[in-house]
Amino acid sequence: MASTPDLRIVCMGAGYVGGPTMAVIAEQCHNVRVCVVDISQAQIDRWNSDNLPIFEPGLDDIVKARRGINLFFSTDVDAEVKAADIIFISVNTPTKRSGLGAGRAADIKNCELCARKIAEVAESDKIVVEKSTVPVRTAEAVQRVLSSNDKGLSFQVLSNPEFLAEGTAIADLRAPSRVLIGGQQTPAGLAAIKRVADVYAKWVPAEKIITTNLWSSELSKLVANAFLAQRISSINSISALCERTKADVYEVSRAIGTDPRVGPRFLQASVGFGGSCFQKDILNLVYLCESFGLPEVAAYWQQVVTMNEYQRDRFSRIMIESMFNTVTGKRIAIFGFAFKKDTGDTRETAAAFIVKNMLAERAICAVFDPKVEDEEMYKELGYQGMSETSHPDLKKLVFSQESPLDAARGAHAIAVMTEWDEFKDYDYEELYSVMQKPAFVFDGRNILDHAKLREIGFEVYVIGRG
Ligand code: NAD
Ligand code: UGA
Repeated sequence: MASTPDLRIVCMGAGYVGGPTMAVIAEQCHNVRVCVVDISQAQIDRWNSDNLPIFEPGLDDIVKARRGINLFFSTDVDAEVKAADIIFISVNTPTKRSGLGAGRAADIKNCELCARKIAEVAESDKIVVEKSTVPVRTAEAVQRVLSSNDKGLSFQVLSNPEFLAEGTAIADLRAPSRVLIGGQQTPAGLAAIKRVADVYAKWVPAEKIITTNLWSSELSKLVANAFLAQRISSINSISALCERTKADVYEVSRAIGTDPRVGPRFLQASVGFGGSCFQKDILNLVYLCESFGLPEVAAYWQQVVTMNEYQRDRFSRIMIESMFNTVTGKRIAIFGFAFKKDTGDTRETAAAFIVKNMLAERAICAVFDPKVEDEEMYKELGYQGMSETSHPDLKKLVFSQESPLDAARGAHAIAVMTEWDEFKDYDYEELYSVMQKPAFVFDGRNILDHAKLREIGFEVYVIGRG
């Protein structure tokens, strides 16, 4: 960008949200200078390389086109924050692991640290935008921390939660279902909302830009994820009943999803939802309800998570029971470790829980995933309590393979954990030929041609079909 930019946007946090959202703003608004900052040098180095830290279809092309022009990645947090007009906070807000609210409350420590950094270095008025998913009323805390700046500056705090889904992030950002901006309903708050809305208005139709008060915006993000996850848990609960009654959950999904009041999406029965947010955000909602004295409401939402755990355990139990009640020493080919297709993200993936259950039985898991890096797989396993400290032979029992054929060689079963399209096109006759007999397929995603697999000789279990 040769001329002076009209606006300087800085995003604190260069992760799955910060990177793609800022890349799309840079793509759509050439007169805006966008800089994504992070405290992790390794993360920023990868954003500045040809090997971006996240895989997201379409992202590489945008970064290549705009990096160094109006899109920058830097660890010089102080200088970038100082020069910014609008600062997005897009840091991770994981479930707390210890202390008050452990296992349920969201940890907003990183958001607070960002606010403290802004308060420390700001020398001009700023609009500070919560892009991270946070508990309701976090903006109040951010505002109070910002007011510790004693230079007489004005800070407007807004909430602009992100609704992108991984794997489709770029398409979601280019054509969002809506952009939600919450702010204080004061003249200064409304002016700040307008300033941020004007950025999105460059490519998002006006009717899709929704403005609300701060608390509605913060809460809507948690509720949106809770409603989506609730649909999956609802259909997964029905999948168990289908297996007992010989109904077919996919026929049931179609039958109910054609009612426009229900709609067809997020009714795909599966081995369980994963990802860094659904569980975290529902637990956060549960904790909020409890904190505000609403135990019945908390219990209602908790059940969505409980049902998800039930589905993963049910799937593992069926695998073990089908293989003659023992998988000890048996090799199992795990097809897919990402929490969904078209991403290398493994956070809270159902695959890790199935592996955990197999590990408890001392089965051998040979994992094949087209995108997941080994380091990420072991990191997630560690996060779910499977480290080399707790399991000294972990890497002998769980390891990745270069090809589906390598994973299947000598295996008693294939367990499909992720709905990668390529899994549908493999040569299952060849895979069958290298496996132990009887050879099982446990399709946790209902993506394979089950009739064909049975013809080849496989014993096939499909969720919700039995
Ligand atoms: P992430 O873990 O991929 O990235 C967060 C980044 O923030 C990391 O690179 C970390 O180093 C950086 N960071 C932490 N503290 C920092 C600080 N003080 N200053 C600067 N950088 C700092 O997380 P994510 O998946 O991008 O999620 C970010 C937020 O967005 C979360 O609140 C999440 O719930 C929400 N969200 C995520 C998704 C998604 O698909 N992943 C979608 C919508 C919303
Ligand atoms: C989800 C939401 O869809 C986004 O709107 C939100 O912004 C994001 O969480 C977030 O806050 O992080 P994401 O987790 O990336 O996005 O992916 P989804 O497509 O929602 O899938 C989540 C999980 O549910 C995956 O494991 C997926 O396989 C599973 N799923 C999804 C099902 O089992 N069945 C379905 O019908 C749909």
